[in-house]
Amino acid sequence: MIFDTHAHYDSSQFDEDREELLASMPEQGVGTIVNVGASYRSCFTVPEMVQKYPFMYAAVGVHPDEVGALNEETFAKMKEQFQKDKVIAVGEIGLDYYWDNESHDLQKKWFIRQLALAKELSLPVLIHSREAAADTMEIMQEYGRGLQGVIHCFSYSKEMAKEYVKMGYYIGVGGVVTFKNGRKLKEVVAEIPLTSIVLETDCPYLAPVPFRGKRNHSGYIRYAAEGIAEIKGVSAKEVIRQTEENAKKMYGLA
Ligand code: NI
Repeated sequence: MIFDTHAHYDSSQFDEDREELLASMPEQGVGTIVNVGASYRSCFTVPEMVQKYPFMYAAVGVHPDEVGALNEETFAKMKEQFQKDKVIAVGEIGLDYYWDNESHDLQKKWFIRQLALAKELSLPVLIHSREAAADTMEIMQEYGRGLQGVIHCFSYSKEMAKEYVKMGYYIGVGGVVTFKNGRKLKEVVAEIPLTSIVLETDCPYLAPVPFRGKRNHSGYIRYAAEGIAEIKGVSAKEVIRQTEENAKKMYGLA
C-alpha cells in the first residue's frame, strides 16, 4: 500500500474535513502516513493527533523558517515529545534560503542541534532544503553521516542526489514529478535506483497534475507513483510496493 512519508494534516486547510478525509485513506490505498512537524507548536499538536489514527505516525522537529522559536528551554521541551508513542523521526529540519525567515547562522545552529538530537535518539531525519544546496551538503557530510533519513521534496541536481544516495539517504519524491516544469526532478528519478526513493505528498501543498494548485492529500500520491513508474519503465504498483518497503526500512517499521 501507499506510504506517504511526509504530510501536514495538522494544517488548517484540513480543519473542515480532516476526520472524513483521513478515514477514507485505507480505501484510497494509503497504508501509512507520517505527519511531520514544522512549527514549534506542531511538535506538540502532531504527536497528539496521530494517536487517533492507527495508520499514522509523527515526526517532531522545527523547520528552518520557524527556528526563531527555539532556545535551550523550548528545545528541551521539544525533546520530551520523543517519549510519546508513535514519534518515529526528527523533522522537518534543515535550511531554507528561499524564504530566508531567519538568519543563516541561526538556521545552521538549530539544524546541527537537531541532527545531533537524531543521533542521540537513534531516529531518522527528514531534511528540508531550499536554495541552500551547498550549505546543506556541507552540514550533512559533517553531522549527518551514520544517520538514516530522507532529503524531502528534493529540488537539486542529479549529481547531488547521487551524493546523498551514496551517504545512505533516501530521496523524497512527490507531486512535482508530474509537473511539466519538473524536468530536474525527472532527471533525478531516472538517475537514482528505485530502492532509494520514497513517496511523499507534503500535503496540503504540491498537489500532482491533474490537481496542481488544489489542496493535496495522500490519496493523490498515486499520480506521483505513476510519474515515477513511467520514468523507470515499471508499473505504478511496483513503485508503490518498493517505496513502501523503503519507507518502512527508513522509519524502522519493517
Ligand atoms: Ni513539509
